[in-house]
Amino acid sequence: MESILKSLYLSDLTLLELAGAMRREMDRGLAAKTNEGAEMRMLPTYVTGTPDGTEDGEFLAFDLGGTNFRILLVKLVAGEHKNITMNSQIYHISQEIMTGTGAQLFDHLVECLWDFLSEREITSQLLPIGFTFSFPSNHLGIDKNILLCWTKGYTASGMVGEDIGKLLNEAIDRKSKIRPLNFDLKIMAIMNDTVGTVVSCGYDDNDTCMGMIVGTGTNMAYMEKQENIELLEKKTPASEMCINAEWGAFGDKSESLKAIRTEYDIYIDENSPNKGQYIFDKMISGMYMGELLRLIIVKLISNGEIFEEIAPDSKIFSPGLSAAFVSHIVNFNNDNDQIRQCVARFGLIASDEDCNKLVQLCEAISKRAAYLCAAGVVTVAQKIAENRGPDAKMTIGVDGSVYRKHPTFAKLLHSKVRDLGGDLNVTFHETTDGSGRGAALVAAVECRLQNIRTKVPNQTEE
Ligand code: BGC
Repeated sequence: MESILKSLYLSDLTLLELAGAMRREMDRGLAAKTNEGAEMRMLPTYVTGTPDGTEDGEFLAFDLGGTNFRILLVKLVAGEHKNITMNSQIYHISQEIMTGTGAQLFDHLVECLWDFLSEREITSQLLPIGFTFSFPSNHLGIDKNILLCWTKGYTASGMVGEDIGKLLNEAIDRKSKIRPLNFDLKIMAIMNDTVGTVVSCGYDDNDTCMGMIVGTGTNMAYMEKQENIELLEKKTPASEMCINAEWGAFGDKSESLKAIRTEYDIYIDENSPNKGQYIFDKMISGMYMGELLRLIIVKLISNGEIFEEIAPDSKIFSPGLSAAFVSHIVNFNNDNDQIRQCVARFGLIASDEDCNKLVQLCEAISKRAAYLCAAGVVTVAQKIAENRGPDAKMTIGVDGSVYRKHPTFAKLLHSKVRDLGGDLNVTFHETTDGSGRGAALVAAVECRLQNIRTKVPNQTEE
């Protein structure tokens, strides 16, 4: 038990070393010659501006990035009383669809879209779509991006290397032949959830320059000077562009994380569908947090150090613990009756000492995840401070279930950023629905830039 807790502990010195390595990988990712081998992917997104309040109309937002697909109808009202209203529906993506073929996945998305539209009275003639696609993709334009690899348990075949917008349009065309619609759907923009978070938070706070997700997966996007983005062949007139760092890939190609990976992290990676990829992601995000705890518990059981009483049909010996389980245990610290109820569902009978050990383990796993994120936030904030000046005010929009629902994660992250970041002027802004609101706003900005009018009822009467 003691050696496990020790292996999960990260000192400030270790975190600062990691931050240094992350910074090197950021620079390598931004440089044309080294981008290919860099661990921070630093993908240009073609999102250059945040909304200016003149965005108006009805938009559809799609959000795919985990076990659910969400569709939102977003109404933006411009001007002094600018406001956003949203009507959304969640559709489940089964394991079968996640791991089937790309065509099955996209046909399913379009099936959901038809269900959504047929249930609502839509007034627009043109429905611009903002699509949040939260997987590593290489943008060739704001509405054209190529899937680089899957993460978060997805393996749908035939999609890596393909243009996501094209696949969605093809699936919409297939469906329209069977059941035509009386209005146009137009994909205006495709983006990562971190990018949507920057834009959504930027709508409320002008100092927003970073967007972070800590949920099923983890990642960061931030505003970078275009002159520093060597990879970008055609610069746009704007001075900055949002970069999708894909920090989850940190540790993939070098030894940067080797010293701090535990045998459990290695086991998780080796048994994942994307073995050897997204090592940082696997040490932090909600997708793996419960499994990490489970592997440690199984090890302690085999050492005779925890849970002497185990039901013969205990579920602890096969995957099934969630990040929510870790959150509950941290939350129930000092309430052993609640902890006993939680573990009973897995066929475990906990003594007071077991409860105490479980809390310590969950706290250590959560703290490690929060501290690794803190090292990342400080690295990116330092880069922005170099670009914008040391006193620059930096707001970071944050979303994701781990950040929002875990009882101590956010506090641990904030305080570690203060410890490591010295004078950096960073403010955290929890942004619920970066992917929905953000997607609609990016689509709206794009419509404005391309001079496309979206009809809303009061415009129809003009
Ligand atoms: C993906 C990112 C995404 C993050 C949060 C990671 O696994 O690679 O693209 O932003 O999860 O959803």
